[in-house]
Formats: sequence, structure tokens, C-alpha cells
Amino acid sequence: MSYLELAVQVAREFAETYGRPPRWVVAAPGRVNVIGEHTDYNDGFVLPMAIERYAVMAADKSADGGDVIQIRDASGAEPVLIDLSAPVKPGAPKWGNYPRGVIAGCLARGINPGGLDVLLHSTVPLGGGLSSSASLEVCTATLLEAVTGKKLDPVEKALLCQKAEHEFAGVPCGIMDQFISIMGRENHLLLLDCRSRKTELVPVNDPSVQLLIANTNVKHELANGEYASRRAQCEAAAKILGVPSLRDATADAPENAKGKMDDVVFRRARHVIGEIERTLHAAEGIRASNWPTVGQLMYASHYSLRDDYEVSCTELDALVEIAESIGIKGGVYGCRMTGGGFGGCTVALVKRDAVAEIKKRMAADYKKKTGIDATIFVSRPAGGATVVKGGGAGLITQASSNAAGRLNPGVVGRNDLAFSGNFLKRDGFGVVAPGGDHDAENALVDQISTGAAKPGGEETVCR
Ligand code: GLA
Repeated sequence: MSYLELAVQVAREFAETYGRPPRWVVAAPGRVNVIGEHTDYNDGFVLPMAIERYAVMAADKSADGGDVIQIRDASGAEPVLIDLSAPVKPGAPKWGNYPRGVIAGCLARGINPGGLDVLLHSTVPLGGGLSSSASLEVCTATLLEAVTGKKLDPVEKALLCQKAEHEFAGVPCGIMDQFISIMGRENHLLLLDCRSRKTELVPVNDPSVQLLIANTNVKHELANGEYASRRAQCEAAAKILGVPSLRDATADAPENAKGKMDDVVFRRARHVIGEIERTLHAAEGIRASNWPTVGQLMYASHYSLRDDYEVSCTELDALVEIAESIGIKGGVYGCRMTGGGFGGCTVALVKRDAVAEIKKRMAADYKKKTGIDATIFVSRPAGGATVVKGGGAGLITQASSNAAGRLNPGVVGRNDLAFSGNFLKRDGFGVVAPGGDHDAENALVDQISTGAAKPGGEETVCR
């Protein structure tokens, strides 16, 4: 489902829940990290993309005019109530700590939306390593921006969301997830230097490849504690090597200092230093559409995460082994675990025309090996967080200019439904682009109808 279709659905769910239409609808995507794992908190490089799975919030000013933000969840989880007249602190239910942390950060910056009725609906799988928490944080911050009309600088917004996760959810995460959820761009990966916070968009324009995400559908409980201990081990390694962070260590530094550090710390350092290198090489490979090289780097990343960093698990390893046994002949260039680890997802670089066959094989072999059903899907690189309704000129205008600027026959897909104003109007979203200029959208429709551009998604664009 595109974020527009989802937004329309969530607007309807809001109306069913609260008995009136929402004034604002915002969406923030999850992400998959193509390569560069456990490098962000070592000041290194990461190469994620936003995916077509979103946290969406529909909202209106609270019906009773009070000072409480009420967040209901479409899946029926316990609602969250946040009273803005008292200091905002972590509490129950636990999932509310992500929005609570973000709201506290916004209030501290004078961004006060007053009481709100909110409905949340997320299609980012929980605990799947696809940043369901970061998308929820970014979604909350985007809602507060839309309601107050006060826009945060994107870097400040990412840091505010990260702080919420540190202080309200107790996870000492890096900066990758929040950055990509804010700064993702359709059809691009984001090469992020986590030290300087400089970003570079790396286009993925080759219609012959796709990224295939497979969810092991397991999450091992130790994940959070292990994450914190990895971070501490990296800091210990940097200290022993006499560098501010592992980003600054040379490839042979751990080997040269082997006598001074225990084997575990040595292997952690070896992973991080190697992974930073691999990430930069992979970005080069993607720029050159050198898919076999990128695929090899993905496998190397997985082995390093499995053996040196020890954050994989048998289920993730099983999926990577299956992908490897399918091989380039069967359409798989490379595959690796993605995200923090201990369950969650793998990401594979595959040939587009082999996707159906690969999905079938991965699902069947994984079930045979583990007894578990995997969830497998492709995603194009998606755009970052956006105000769908209530944010002024907003989305259609933005989406159509994106489409016009980078119209690429073969990769025009379902997301370009963004230009389908009719679809939105039908669902009462006519206010999305007040006075919007739809020339670019019309041009795209024309190109599709004359065959100059082809819809590349799973469903055709015109219906
Ligand atoms: C989690 C964290 C990120 C990053 C990854 C590992 O997703 O939130 O900051 O450290 O793990 O690469």
C-alpha cells in the first residue's frame, strides 16, 4: 500500500474512532539498512533507504479542548495519554515512551501543540529491525510540526528523536534510523557520515534490480542489553587503540594491538573498521551499478556480523544461507542481516525478474529449516517523513515535482499514485494541495498512457 492509500485508510479509521475527520495526517517510513551495520555509533558510514512501510498518524485538536494528547492505536494496543500540563515523563504503556520522549523534546523547544486526539496506524513490523520505533518517533515529531506550523531543522529533528529513544525508551541507539526516516528520498539510498552528519543521496535507477526484505519473524529477547554492551565494547576498543572512535582506526590497528585487548574486543573492532570500509565500497558499487561487487560486500558484512560482532542468530543465518544457495544464477547478488540483529530481517539484492521465484524458494526453505513462516517483500526506496494532510502546499506538489524531476521509465511505480489527484479527491483529500500545480502529474499520466513510461510497481498506476 502506498503511503497515500494508507493515509486515506487511517483518516477513515480516525473518523470511525473519534466521529469526525482528522485535520492532519502525517507519515514517516521505516528503513532497511543496505550496509553499514553497527557503525553509526562509531562515527562511521551507513547506507540505508526508507521503505514503503509507514507509521501514520491522523489527528485533530482534542474534542474537549483540554491539554491531553491522546494516542489510540489502530491495532488495539492500550491507548497513550500524555498530559501536557505536567512534566512529560516515561510511563505505561511502554510503547507510548517513543511519542512521550519526542513530545517532551518538542515542548522543550517551545513546540506545543496543545491537546490532540490522535490515531496511529503503523505498517512497519514491530521488532522486525526495520525501525518501527524511529518511524514512530519521527511521525510524532512531524505531527507536532504540522500542528504548530513550527518546522524543526532536519538534523535537529533527528537528534531530538534519538534523544527520546535514549532517555525515554532506554536504548542507546545511533543516529541512522531517525535520519533516514526524515531524509529518505524515493529511488535513492542515503550515504550518511555519522560523524559530520553530511548526507549524500545515492540513486538506484537500474530497473533490473530490487531489494528484497525477508523477516525471520523472530526477535530474541537479549537484543537491547546486547546492543548496549556492543557499544561499550567499541568504546573500550577505541580507548585501547588511542583514537576518539573506531572511525579513526586504521585497518591493521586491531591486529597491531592484539596483545592489549581481549579477543572479544578485538573482533568487535575488526567488524566496525571493516564494515565502514565496505560501506564506502558498496556506495561506489551502487553508483556504478556493479551489482556482483555490492552483493559480495553484503555477504562479507553478514559474516562479519555473525562471527566478529556476534549479533546474528540461526534464523538470520538460515535466510542468508538460502539466498547464497540460490546464488547469482538464481537472481541473488547478495544478502545480509539488517538492523541491530538477534532476529528481524535480512536484505537481499536481487534481479527483478527473479523476485517471484526467489521469494518462493526462500519461504519454502526457511520453513523447512526453522518451522517458521517468513514474511518476504520488496520495497523501492521511499521518501522520508511527510505531511499528507493539513500541511499547506504539501504532498502532491512535492511528490509530483519528484516524479517530474526523476521520471525514469521502468521505475515508475505505485508511489507515483501521488499524482493521482482524483484518487485523493475521491477520498476527501482535496485539500492536500490547495492551489497545487498538477502539470507534472498530468505529464506523467500522459507518458504512462502513451507508453513512454511504464508503471514498475506491483500494481498499475492508472485504474
Ligand atoms: C539499531 C540502532 C541503529 C544502529 C543499528 C545497527 O537499528 O537503532 O542506530 O546502530 O541498530 O546498525
